[in-house]
Amino acid sequence: MHALNQSLPCCINSVEISNFPFWNTSFIMITSSVAESSQNLVIRTSKTANQKKRFSVAEMAKESLQYLSGFRNEFHSEDPRCPGSLPTKQNNPQRCPYGLYPEQLSGTSFTSPRETNSRSWLYRIRPSVLHTPFKKLPLGNLSTNWDIFEPNPNQLKWDPFDIPDVEDRRVDFVQGLNTVCGAGDPKDRHGIAIHMFLCNTSMEDKCFYNSDGDFLIVPQQGKLWITTEFGKMLVEPNEICVIQQGMRFSVELKGPTRGYILEVYNNHFVLPPLGPIGANGLANPRGFLTPVAWYEDKEVNKYTVINKFQGHLFAACQNHSPFDVVAWHGNYVPYKYNLSDFMVFNTVSFDHADPSIFTVLTCPSTRPGVAIADFVIFPPRWSTAENTFRPPYYHRNCMSEFMGLIYGSYEAKEDTLKPGGATLHNIMTPHGPDSNCFEKASNAQLVPEKVAEETMSFMFESCLNMTVTDWACNTSLKLDVNYPKCWQNLKKMFNPKLMSLKPNINGEAYTSIYRSPIHAEDNDVGNADTAVHN
Ligand SMILES: [Fe+2]
Repeated sequence: MHALNQSLPCCINSVEISNFPFWNTSFIMITSSVAESSQNLVIRTSKTANQKKRFSVAEMAKESLQYLSGFRNEFHSEDPRCPGSLPTKQNNPQRCPYGLYPEQLSGTSFTSPRETNSRSWLYRIRPSVLHTPFKKLPLGNLSTNWDIFEPNPNQLKWDPFDIPDVEDRRVDFVQGLNTVCGAGDPKDRHGIAIHMFLCNTSMEDKCFYNSDGDFLIVPQQGKLWITTEFGKMLVEPNEICVIQQGMRFSVELKGPTRGYILEVYNNHFVLPPLGPIGANGLANPRGFLTPVAWYEDKEVNKYTVINKFQGHLFAACQNHSPFDVVAWHGNYVPYKYNLSDFMVFNTVSFDHADPSIFTVLTCPSTRPGVAIADFVIFPPRWSTAENTFRPPYYHRNCMSEFMGLIYGSYEAKEDTLKPGGATLHNIMTPHGPDSNCFEKASNAQLVPEKVAEETMSFMFESCLNMTVTDWACNTSLKLDVNYPKCWQNLKKMFNPKLMSLKPNINGEAYTSIYRSPIHAEDNDVGNADTAVHN
Protein backbone atom coordinates (compact mmCIF):
# COMPACT_ATOMS: atom_id res chain seq x y z
CA MET A 1 0.00 0.00 0.00
CA HIS A 2 1.43 3.34 -1.04
CA ALA A 3 -0.35 6.43 0.06
CA LEU A 4 0.61 10.00 -0.68
CA ASN A 5 -2.08 11.70 1.22
CA GLN A 6 -0.69 15.15 1.68
CA SER A 7 -2.66 18.11 0.49
CA LEU A 8 -1.30 19.43 -2.76
CA PRO A 9 -1.16 23.13 -3.52
CA CYS A 10 -3.35 24.08 -6.45
CA CYS A 11 -0.34 24.97 -8.56
CA ILE A 12 1.06 21.46 -8.32
CA ASN A 13 -0.47 19.23 -10.92
CA SER A 14 1.81 16.24 -11.06
CA VAL A 15 3.57 13.83 -8.75
CA GLU A 16 6.16 11.28 -9.82
CA ILE A 17 5.88 7.83 -8.36
CA SER A 18 8.86 5.60 -9.01
CA ASN A 19 8.59 2.62 -6.70
CA PHE A 20 6.08 0.45 -8.49
CA PRO A 21 8.24 -2.34 -9.91
CA PHE A 22 5.55 -3.98 -11.98
CA TRP A 23 4.15 -0.88 -13.59
CA ASN A 24 6.28 1.02 -16.06
CA THR A 25 3.93 3.91 -16.44
CA SER A 26 4.44 5.03 -12.88
CA PHE A 27 3.35 8.62 -13.20
CA ILE A 28 0.02 10.26 -12.60
CA MET A 29 -1.40 13.73 -12.54
CA ILE A 30 -4.12 15.24 -10.47
CA THR A 31 -5.14 18.84 -10.27
CA SER A 32 -8.01 20.80 -8.86
CA SER A 33 -10.58 18.75 -7.00
CA VAL A 34 -14.13 19.96 -6.71
CA ALA A 35 -17.30 18.24 -5.55
CA GLU A 36 -17.23 16.26 -2.35
CA SER A 37 -13.54 15.46 -2.02
CA SER A 38 -10.36 17.34 -1.23
CA GLN A 39 -7.28 17.88 -3.35
CA ASN A 40 -5.57 14.80 -2.07
CA LEU A 41 -3.76 12.31 -4.21
CA VAL A 42 -3.88 8.72 -3.11
CA ILE A 43 -2.12 5.91 -4.88
CA ARG A 44 -3.44 2.55 -3.80
CA THR A 45 -2.65 -0.91 -4.92
CA SER A 46 -5.04 -3.79 -4.69
CA LYS A 47 -5.05 -5.70 -1.43
CA THR A 48 -4.15 -8.77 -3.38
CA ALA A 49 -0.82 -7.22 -4.28
CA ASN A 50 0.27 -8.75 -0.98
CA GLN A 51 -0.43 -12.17 -2.42
CA LYS A 52 1.99 -11.86 -5.34
CA LYS A 53 3.42 -15.34 -5.04
CA ARG A 54 0.10 -16.72 -6.24
CA PHE A 55 0.37 -14.95 -9.62
CA SER A 56 2.68 -14.69 -12.59
CA VAL A 57 4.69 -11.53 -13.23
CA ALA A 58 2.21 -10.44 -15.88
CA GLU A 59 -0.64 -10.86 -13.44
CA MET A 60 1.26 -9.00 -10.75
CA ALA A 61 1.64 -6.07 -13.11
CA LYS A 62 -2.10 -5.97 -13.40
CA GLU A 63 -2.49 -6.17 -9.62
CA SER A 64 -0.30 -3.10 -9.03
CA LEU A 65 -2.63 -0.67 -10.69
CA GLN A 66 -2.80 2.95 -9.62
CA TYR A 67 -5.86 5.03 -8.99
CA LEU A 68 -7.06 8.56 -8.40
CA SER A 69 -9.05 9.03 -5.23
CA GLY A 70 -12.34 10.90 -4.79
CA PHE A 71 -15.93 10.97 -5.98
CA ARG A 72 -16.86 13.17 -8.97
CA ASN A 73 -13.61 15.06 -8.71
CA GLU A 74 -12.24 17.07 -11.62
CA PHE A 75 -9.46 14.59 -12.42
CA HIS A 76 -6.52 15.03 -14.80
CA SER A 77 -4.45 12.09 -16.00
CA GLU A 78 -1.98 11.38 -18.76
CA ASP A 79 0.00 8.30 -19.68
CA PRO A 80 3.64 8.99 -18.67
CA ARG A 81 4.87 7.63 -21.99
CA CYS A 82 3.58 10.86 -23.52
CA PRO A 83 4.37 13.69 -21.08
CA GLY A 84 2.53 16.88 -21.90
CA SER A 85 -0.17 15.10 -23.87
CA LEU A 86 -2.93 16.81 -21.92
CA PRO A 87 -3.64 20.27 -23.40
CA THR A 88 -3.41 23.04 -20.88
CA LYS A 89 -5.89 25.88 -20.42
CA GLN A 90 -8.26 24.68 -23.12
CA ASN A 91 -10.06 21.51 -24.21
CA ASN A 92 -9.93 21.74 -27.96
CA PRO A 93 -6.74 23.27 -29.39
CA GLN A 94 -6.29 23.57 -33.12
CA ARG A 95 -3.64 20.87 -32.96
CA CYS A 96 -3.33 18.59 -29.93
CA PRO A 97 0.05 17.38 -28.65
CA TYR A 98 1.35 14.16 -30.24
CA GLY A 99 -1.25 14.42 -33.01
CA LEU A 100 -4.05 13.27 -30.75
CA TYR A 101 -7.75 13.79 -31.42
CA PRO A 102 -9.80 15.52 -28.69
CA GLU A 103 -13.19 13.98 -27.94
CA GLN A 104 -15.75 14.92 -25.31
CA LEU A 105 -17.81 12.27 -23.53
CA SER A 106 -20.92 13.86 -22.04
CA GLY A 107 -22.54 12.21 -19.04
CA THR A 108 -25.16 14.92 -18.56
CA SER A 109 -26.81 17.41 -20.87
CA PHE A 110 -24.67 20.40 -21.80
CA THR A 111 -26.92 22.65 -19.78
CA SER A 112 -27.19 20.59 -16.59
CA PRO A 113 -26.56 22.66 -13.47
CA ARG A 114 -22.91 23.04 -12.62
CA GLU A 115 -23.19 20.89 -9.48
CA THR A 116 -24.43 17.90 -11.47
CA ASN A 117 -22.75 18.51 -14.83
CA SER A 118 -20.56 15.56 -15.83
CA ARG A 119 -18.27 15.27 -18.80
CA SER A 120 -14.73 14.27 -19.67
CA TRP A 121 -12.35 15.17 -22.44
CA LEU A 122 -10.41 12.29 -23.98
CA TYR A 123 -7.24 12.76 -26.07
CA ARG A 124 -6.96 9.70 -28.26
CA ILE A 125 -5.08 8.26 -31.20
CA ARG A 126 -8.26 7.93 -33.26
CA PRO A 127 -11.73 9.31 -32.59
CA SER A 128 -14.41 6.79 -31.59
CA VAL A 129 -16.33 7.34 -34.82
CA LEU A 130 -13.91 5.17 -36.82
CA HIS A 131 -15.90 1.96 -37.07
CA THR A 132 -18.14 0.07 -39.50
CA PRO A 133 -21.94 0.44 -39.24
CA PHE A 134 -23.55 -1.36 -36.31
CA LYS A 135 -25.42 -4.57 -37.01
CA LYS A 136 -27.86 -6.23 -34.67
CA LEU A 137 -26.73 -9.16 -32.54
CA PRO A 138 -28.79 -11.87 -30.86
CA LEU A 139 -29.94 -10.63 -27.46
CA GLY A 140 -29.27 -13.87 -25.59
CA ASN A 141 -30.72 -13.73 -22.09
CA LEU A 142 -30.86 -9.94 -21.86
CA SER A 143 -34.32 -8.41 -21.59
CA THR A 144 -36.02 -5.06 -21.43
CA ASN A 145 -39.41 -5.96 -22.86
CA TRP A 146 -41.08 -6.63 -19.52
CA ASP A 147 -44.61 -6.86 -20.92
CA ILE A 148 -43.99 -10.36 -22.30
CA PHE A 149 -43.51 -11.81 -18.80
CA GLU A 150 -46.22 -12.67 -16.29
CA PRO A 151 -46.35 -10.49 -13.15
CA ASN A 152 -45.37 -12.42 -10.04
CA PRO A 153 -46.08 -10.96 -6.58
CA ASN A 154 -44.64 -13.95 -4.66
CA GLN A 155 -41.56 -14.02 -2.48
CA LEU A 156 -38.85 -15.29 -4.81
CA LYS A 157 -35.51 -16.88 -4.11
CA TRP A 158 -32.85 -18.28 -6.40
CA ASP A 159 -30.13 -20.77 -5.57
CA PRO A 160 -26.66 -19.78 -6.80
CA PHE A 161 -26.77 -19.28 -10.54
CA ASP A 162 -24.63 -21.74 -12.52
CA ILE A 163 -21.47 -20.52 -14.22
CA PRO A 164 -21.01 -22.25 -17.60
CA ASP A 165 -18.25 -24.85 -17.72
CA VAL A 166 -15.49 -23.60 -20.00
CA GLU A 167 -15.13 -27.14 -21.36
CA ASP A 168 -18.70 -26.92 -22.62
CA ARG A 169 -18.65 -23.39 -23.99
CA ARG A 170 -16.55 -20.27 -23.68
CA VAL A 171 -18.59 -17.36 -22.38
CA ASP A 172 -17.21 -13.87 -21.91
CA PHE A 173 -18.62 -11.06 -19.79
CA VAL A 174 -21.01 -9.74 -22.43
CA GLN A 175 -22.13 -13.16 -23.61
CA GLY A 176 -22.69 -14.09 -19.96
CA LEU A 177 -25.22 -11.33 -19.19
CA ASN A 178 -28.59 -12.66 -18.02
CA THR A 179 -31.43 -10.40 -16.95
CA VAL A 180 -33.23 -11.43 -13.75
CA CYS A 181 -35.77 -8.63 -13.45
CA GLY A 182 -36.42 -5.01 -14.23
CA ALA A 183 -38.87 -2.26 -15.04
CA GLY A 184 -39.13 0.77 -17.29
CA ASP A 185 -37.77 1.48 -20.73
CA PRO A 186 -34.32 2.66 -21.79
CA LYS A 187 -35.92 4.62 -24.65
CA ASP A 188 -37.70 6.74 -22.04
CA ARG A 189 -34.54 6.90 -19.91
CA HIS A 190 -36.57 5.61 -16.98
CA GLY A 191 -36.13 2.25 -15.33
CA ILE A 192 -33.69 -0.33 -14.09
CA ALA A 193 -32.59 -3.87 -14.89
CA ILE A 194 -30.83 -6.41 -12.70
CA HIS A 195 -28.53 -8.86 -14.43
CA MET A 196 -26.32 -11.75 -13.44
CA PHE A 197 -23.01 -12.14 -15.25
CA LEU A 198 -21.94 -15.78 -15.51
CA CYS A 199 -18.76 -16.19 -17.53
CA ASN A 200 -15.50 -18.09 -17.86
CA THR A 201 -13.50 -16.38 -20.62
CA SER A 202 -11.85 -12.99 -21.19
CA MET A 203 -13.12 -10.63 -23.86
CA GLU A 204 -10.60 -10.73 -26.71
CA ASP A 205 -10.36 -7.85 -29.16
CA LYS A 206 -13.82 -6.91 -28.02
CA CYS A 207 -15.24 -4.07 -25.95
CA PHE A 208 -18.69 -3.11 -24.76
CA TYR A 209 -20.51 0.12 -24.06
CA ASN A 210 -24.02 0.81 -22.85
CA SER A 211 -26.08 3.59 -24.38
CA ASP A 212 -28.99 2.82 -22.06
CA GLY A 213 -27.52 3.67 -18.68
CA ASP A 214 -24.94 2.91 -16.01
CA PHE A 215 -23.72 -0.48 -14.78
CA LEU A 216 -23.03 -0.96 -11.08
CA ILE A 217 -21.07 -4.22 -11.07
CA VAL A 218 -20.82 -6.45 -7.99
CA PRO A 219 -18.40 -9.35 -8.51
CA GLN A 220 -19.23 -12.36 -6.33
CA GLN A 221 -16.79 -14.99 -7.60
CA GLY A 222 -13.60 -14.29 -9.56
CA LYS A 223 -11.73 -11.06 -10.22
CA LEU A 224 -12.44 -8.64 -13.05
CA TRP A 225 -9.51 -6.94 -14.77
CA ILE A 226 -11.32 -4.12 -16.52
CA THR A 227 -9.73 -2.01 -19.22
CA THR A 228 -11.58 1.23 -19.86
CA GLU A 229 -10.96 4.24 -22.04
CA PHE A 230 -9.78 5.94 -18.83
CA GLY A 231 -7.32 3.22 -17.80
CA LYS A 232 -7.28 -0.13 -16.06
CA MET A 233 -8.78 -1.30 -12.81
CA LEU A 234 -8.99 -4.54 -10.91
CA VAL A 235 -12.29 -5.27 -9.22
CA GLU A 236 -12.58 -8.29 -6.98
CA PRO A 237 -15.25 -9.70 -4.67
CA ASN A 238 -16.11 -7.28 -1.86
CA GLU A 239 -15.42 -4.42 -4.26
CA ILE A 240 -17.86 -2.86 -6.70
CA CYS A 241 -17.35 -0.68 -9.74
CA VAL A 242 -19.49 1.68 -11.77
CA ILE A 243 -19.08 1.95 -15.53
CA GLN A 244 -21.17 4.88 -16.62
CA GLN A 245 -23.22 5.31 -19.77
CA GLY A 246 -21.21 5.31 -22.98
CA MET A 247 -17.84 4.28 -21.53
CA ARG A 248 -16.13 1.54 -23.47
CA PHE A 249 -14.66 -1.28 -21.46
CA SER A 250 -13.38 -4.82 -21.79
CA VAL A 251 -13.25 -7.49 -19.09
CA GLU A 252 -10.49 -10.01 -18.56
CA LEU A 253 -10.95 -12.80 -16.09
CA LYS A 254 -9.43 -16.03 -14.96
CA GLY A 255 -11.66 -19.00 -14.29
CA PRO A 256 -15.35 -19.19 -13.43
CA THR A 257 -16.69 -15.72 -12.67
CA ARG A 258 -20.05 -14.61 -11.35
CA GLY A 259 -21.64 -11.43 -10.13
CA TYR A 260 -24.56 -9.04 -10.09
CA ILE A 261 -25.25 -5.89 -12.12
CA LEU A 262 -27.62 -3.07 -11.31
CA GLU A 263 -28.35 -1.09 -14.46
CA VAL A 264 -30.06 2.28 -14.12
CA TYR A 265 -31.50 4.21 -17.05
CA ASN A 266 -32.51 7.47 -15.39
CA ASN A 267 -29.55 9.02 -13.76
CA HIS A 268 -26.04 8.54 -12.50
CA PHE A 269 -25.20 7.21 -9.06
CA VAL A 270 -24.40 9.73 -6.36
CA LEU A 271 -23.50 9.53 -2.70
CA PRO A 272 -26.55 9.69 -0.43
CA PRO A 273 -27.04 12.86 1.61
CA LEU A 274 -25.77 12.48 5.16
CA GLY A 275 -28.28 14.72 6.95
CA PRO A 276 -27.78 14.75 10.73
CA ILE A 277 -24.86 12.30 10.43
CA GLY A 278 -22.72 15.28 9.48
CA ALA A 279 -19.81 15.66 7.12
CA ASN A 280 -18.33 12.17 7.42
CA GLY A 281 -19.54 8.62 7.31
CA LEU A 282 -21.08 5.85 5.21
CA ALA A 283 -19.09 5.71 1.96
CA ASN A 284 -16.55 8.50 2.23
CA PRO A 285 -15.64 10.13 -1.11
CA ARG A 286 -11.95 9.33 -0.76
CA GLY A 287 -12.76 5.61 -0.94
CA PHE A 288 -13.77 5.81 -4.60
CA LEU A 289 -10.94 5.06 -7.01
CA THR A 290 -10.66 5.98 -10.68
CA PRO A 291 -8.06 4.51 -13.03
CA VAL A 292 -5.17 6.53 -14.42
CA ALA A 293 -4.68 7.09 -18.14
CA TRP A 294 -3.31 4.14 -20.08
CA TYR A 295 -3.25 3.56 -23.82
CA GLU A 296 -2.37 0.92 -26.36
CA ASP A 297 -1.56 1.72 -30.01
CA LYS A 298 -2.78 -1.61 -31.27
CA GLU A 299 -3.95 -2.46 -34.75
CA VAL A 300 -5.85 -5.68 -35.37
CA ASN A 301 -7.72 -7.20 -38.28
CA LYS A 302 -10.99 -7.08 -36.44
CA TYR A 303 -11.83 -5.40 -33.18
CA THR A 304 -15.49 -5.73 -32.19
CA VAL A 305 -17.35 -2.92 -30.45
CA ILE A 306 -20.60 -4.11 -28.86
CA ASN A 307 -23.24 -1.55 -28.01
CA LYS A 308 -26.35 -2.03 -25.89
CA PHE A 309 -28.83 0.37 -27.40
CA GLN A 310 -32.53 0.60 -26.57
CA GLY A 311 -32.27 -2.78 -24.90
CA HIS A 312 -30.77 -4.53 -27.94
CA LEU A 313 -27.21 -5.53 -28.77
CA PHE A 314 -25.35 -4.28 -31.83
CA ALA A 315 -21.81 -4.88 -33.08
CA ALA A 316 -19.47 -2.77 -35.18
CA CYS A 317 -15.91 -3.48 -36.26
CA GLN A 318 -12.77 -1.41 -36.37
CA ASN A 319 -9.13 -2.17 -37.02
CA HIS A 320 -7.70 -0.81 -33.80
CA SER A 321 -8.07 -0.94 -30.06
CA PRO A 322 -10.49 1.63 -28.60
CA PHE A 323 -8.25 1.91 -25.56
CA ASP A 324 -6.07 4.51 -27.25
CA VAL A 325 -6.74 7.42 -24.88
CA VAL A 326 -3.35 8.91 -24.02
CA ALA A 327 -4.65 11.59 -21.65
CA TRP A 328 -7.97 12.72 -20.24
CA HIS A 329 -9.52 15.13 -17.82
CA GLY A 330 -12.99 15.58 -16.36
CA ASN A 331 -15.46 14.36 -13.78
CA TYR A 332 -17.27 11.71 -15.83
CA VAL A 333 -15.24 8.60 -15.07
CA PRO A 334 -15.44 4.93 -14.14
CA TYR A 335 -14.70 4.13 -10.51
CA LYS A 336 -14.49 1.34 -7.98
CA TYR A 337 -15.07 1.07 -4.25
CA ASN A 338 -14.04 -1.43 -1.58
CA LEU A 339 -17.05 -2.32 0.58
CA SER A 340 -14.82 -2.77 3.64
CA ASP A 341 -14.21 1.01 3.52
CA PHE A 342 -17.86 1.65 4.43
CA MET A 343 -18.26 3.43 7.79
CA VAL A 344 -21.30 1.87 9.41
CA PHE A 345 -23.84 3.76 11.52
CA ASN A 346 -26.43 2.01 13.64
CA THR A 347 -28.50 2.30 16.79
CA VAL A 348 -26.78 2.21 20.17
CA SER A 349 -30.02 2.27 22.15
CA PHE A 350 -33.04 0.30 20.93
CA ASP A 351 -34.98 -0.80 17.85
CA HIS A 352 -33.81 -1.85 14.42
CA ALA A 353 -32.89 1.08 12.18
CA ASP A 354 -34.15 1.21 8.60
CA PRO A 355 -31.69 -0.23 6.05
CA SER A 356 -31.25 3.15 4.40
CA ILE A 357 -28.41 3.74 6.89
CA PHE A 358 -26.39 1.26 4.84
CA THR A 359 -26.73 3.04 1.48
CA VAL A 360 -23.46 3.18 -0.46
CA LEU A 361 -24.73 4.81 -3.65
CA THR A 362 -28.10 6.03 -4.82
CA CYS A 363 -29.60 6.81 -8.20
CA PRO A 364 -32.17 9.50 -7.38
CA SER A 365 -35.52 9.97 -9.06
CA THR A 366 -37.13 13.36 -9.50
CA ARG A 367 -39.14 12.81 -6.28
CA PRO A 368 -37.26 13.96 -3.20
CA GLY A 369 -35.99 11.05 -1.13
CA VAL A 370 -37.20 8.41 -3.60
CA ALA A 371 -34.52 6.42 -5.39
CA ILE A 372 -34.74 4.82 -8.77
CA ALA A 373 -32.31 2.44 -7.12
CA ASP A 374 -30.21 2.33 -3.97
CA PHE A 375 -27.19 0.12 -3.51
CA VAL A 376 -27.26 -0.97 0.14
CA ILE A 377 -24.84 -3.28 1.96
CA PHE A 378 -24.96 -5.17 5.26
CA PRO A 379 -21.35 -5.21 6.42
CA PRO A 380 -19.78 -6.62 9.59
CA ARG A 381 -20.70 -4.36 12.52
CA TRP A 382 -21.48 -4.25 16.20
CA SER A 383 -25.03 -4.89 17.32
CA THR A 384 -25.85 -3.34 20.70
CA ALA A 385 -29.58 -2.57 20.71
CA GLU A 386 -31.33 -3.38 23.99
CA ASN A 387 -34.80 -4.87 24.39
CA THR A 388 -34.94 -5.25 20.61
CA PHE A 389 -35.58 -7.92 18.06
CA ARG A 390 -32.30 -7.30 16.31
CA PRO A 391 -32.62 -8.90 12.84
CA PRO A 392 -34.62 -7.13 10.13
CA TYR A 393 -38.26 -6.69 11.05
CA TYR A 394 -41.24 -8.09 9.16
CA HIS A 395 -42.45 -5.58 6.67
CA ARG A 396 -44.14 -4.66 3.42
CA ASN A 397 -42.41 -2.04 1.39
CA CYS A 398 -43.54 0.44 -1.25
CA MET A 399 -40.12 -0.24 -2.81
CA SER A 400 -38.91 -3.52 -4.39
CA GLU A 401 -35.98 -5.29 -2.77
CA PHE A 402 -33.53 -7.51 -4.64
CA MET A 403 -30.92 -9.09 -2.39
CA GLY A 404 -27.67 -10.85 -3.21
CA LEU A 405 -24.91 -12.41 -1.17
CA ILE A 406 -21.23 -12.01 -1.98
CA TYR A 407 -19.90 -14.38 0.66
CA GLY A 408 -20.85 -15.84 4.04
CA SER A 409 -24.47 -16.11 5.15
CA TYR A 410 -27.19 -13.49 5.40
CA GLU A 411 -28.17 -12.85 9.01
CA ALA A 412 -31.95 -13.00 8.47
CA LYS A 413 -31.88 -16.18 6.38
CA GLU A 414 -28.80 -18.15 7.32
CA ASP A 415 -30.01 -21.37 5.78
CA THR A 416 -31.65 -20.10 2.63
CA LEU A 417 -29.84 -17.32 0.73
CA LYS A 418 -26.50 -18.59 -0.61
CA PRO A 419 -23.56 -16.71 -2.18
CA GLY A 420 -24.28 -16.23 -5.87
CA GLY A 421 -28.02 -16.63 -5.29
CA ALA A 422 -30.64 -13.93 -4.78
CA THR A 423 -34.04 -13.04 -3.43
CA LEU A 424 -36.67 -10.63 -4.71
CA HIS A 425 -39.42 -9.18 -2.53
CA ASN A 426 -41.39 -6.98 -4.82
CA ILE A 427 -43.52 -3.98 -3.99
CA MET A 428 -45.79 -4.73 -0.98
CA THR A 429 -44.77 -8.39 -0.91
CA PRO A 430 -44.57 -9.33 2.79
CA HIS A 431 -41.26 -10.70 4.04
CA GLY A 432 -38.94 -10.83 7.01
CA PRO A 433 -36.83 -13.27 8.99
CA ASP A 434 -37.48 -16.95 8.52
CA SER A 435 -38.89 -18.93 11.43
CA ASN A 436 -35.47 -20.19 12.58
CA CYS A 437 -34.11 -16.65 12.69
CA PHE A 438 -37.18 -15.38 14.53
CA GLU A 439 -36.96 -18.11 17.14
CA LYS A 440 -33.25 -17.60 17.64
CA ALA A 441 -33.35 -13.82 17.85
CA SER A 442 -36.40 -13.80 20.10
CA ASN A 443 -34.55 -15.90 22.65
CA ALA A 444 -31.06 -14.48 22.28
CA GLN A 445 -29.32 -12.92 25.22
CA LEU A 446 -28.90 -9.29 24.21
CA VAL A 447 -25.27 -8.51 24.72
CA PRO A 448 -23.07 -6.42 22.42
CA GLU A 449 -21.95 -8.68 19.62
CA LYS A 450 -20.35 -8.48 16.22
CA VAL A 451 -22.84 -9.44 13.53
CA ALA A 452 -22.43 -10.25 9.85
CA GLU A 453 -18.80 -11.22 10.42
CA GLU A 454 -17.24 -13.00 7.46
CA THR A 455 -20.18 -12.09 5.28
CA MET A 456 -21.32 -9.37 2.88
CA SER A 457 -24.84 -9.20 1.59
CA PHE A 458 -26.37 -6.34 -0.34
CA MET A 459 -29.65 -5.01 -1.64
CA PHE A 460 -30.72 -3.24 -4.80
CA GLU A 461 -33.78 -1.32 -3.64
CA SER A 462 -35.96 0.41 -6.20
CA CYS A 463 -39.15 2.44 -6.32
CA LEU A 464 -40.05 0.46 -9.46
CA ASN A 465 -42.23 -2.62 -9.57
CA MET A 466 -40.05 -5.36 -10.97
CA THR A 467 -40.97 -7.90 -13.63
CA VAL A 468 -39.11 -11.20 -13.48
CA THR A 469 -37.80 -12.71 -16.70
CA ASP A 470 -38.43 -16.14 -18.11
CA TRP A 471 -34.70 -16.82 -17.78
CA ALA A 472 -34.88 -16.22 -14.04
CA CYS A 473 -38.10 -18.17 -13.48
CA ASN A 474 -37.49 -21.11 -15.79
CA THR A 475 -34.38 -21.28 -17.96
CA SER A 476 -31.89 -20.83 -15.13
CA LEU A 477 -33.50 -23.71 -13.18
CA LYS A 478 -32.54 -21.88 -9.98
CA LEU A 479 -35.88 -20.60 -8.70
CA ASP A 480 -36.56 -22.22 -5.33
CA VAL A 481 -40.28 -22.95 -5.27
CA ASN A 482 -40.04 -23.98 -1.62
CA TYR A 483 -38.77 -20.60 -0.48
CA PRO A 484 -42.10 -19.36 1.02
CA LYS A 485 -42.04 -22.40 3.33
CA CYS A 486 -39.29 -20.75 5.37
CA TRP A 487 -42.01 -18.71 7.09
CA GLN A 488 -44.59 -21.47 7.50
CA ASN A 489 -43.34 -22.57 10.91
CA LEU A 490 -43.97 -19.18 12.47
CA LYS A 491 -46.24 -19.88 15.39
CA LYS A 492 -49.18 -18.02 16.75
CA MET A 493 -48.18 -16.74 20.18
CA PHE A 494 -51.05 -14.41 20.92
CA ASN A 495 -52.71 -14.69 24.31
CA PRO A 496 -54.70 -11.72 25.61
CA LYS A 497 -53.88 -12.74 29.18
CA LEU A 498 -50.24 -11.92 28.49
CA MET A 499 -51.14 -8.25 28.39
CA SER A 500 -50.55 -8.20 32.13
CA LEU A 501 -46.99 -9.39 31.66
CA LYS A 502 -44.59 -6.50 32.03
CA PRO A 503 -41.15 -7.12 30.60
CA ASN A 504 -38.36 -5.60 32.61
CA ILE A 505 -35.89 -3.23 31.00
CA ASN A 506 -33.75 -6.09 29.69
CA GLY A 507 -36.71 -7.86 28.21
CA GLU A 508 -36.08 -10.89 30.41
CA ALA A 509 -39.69 -11.64 31.19
CA TYR A 510 -40.55 -11.32 27.50
CA THR A 511 -37.88 -13.68 26.27
CA SER A 512 -38.71 -16.17 29.00
CA ILE A 513 -42.05 -16.70 27.28
CA TYR A 514 -40.31 -18.60 24.55
CA ARG A 515 -37.79 -20.33 26.70
CA SER A 516 -39.82 -22.05 29.34
CA PRO A 517 -43.24 -22.13 30.93
CA ILE A 518 -43.93 -19.17 33.17
CA HIS A 519 -45.51 -20.22 36.40
CA ALA A 520 -49.08 -19.09 36.76
CA GLU A 521 -48.53 -18.19 40.37
CA ASP A 522 -45.76 -15.77 39.34
CA ASN A 523 -47.63 -13.93 36.65
CA ASP A 524 -51.24 -14.85 36.93
CA VAL A 525 -51.44 -15.44 33.20
CA GLY A 526 -51.80 -19.19 33.04
CA ASN A 527 -49.29 -21.43 31.35
CA ALA A 528 -47.36 -19.24 28.90
CA ASP A 529 -45.82 -22.23 27.18
CA THR A 530 -49.27 -23.27 26.12
CA ALA A 531 -49.91 -19.75 24.95
CA VAL A 532 -46.83 -19.84 22.73
CA HIS A 533 -47.68 -23.03 20.96
CA ASN A 534 -51.38 -22.61 20.50
FE1 LIG B 1 -37.07 -5.97 3.22
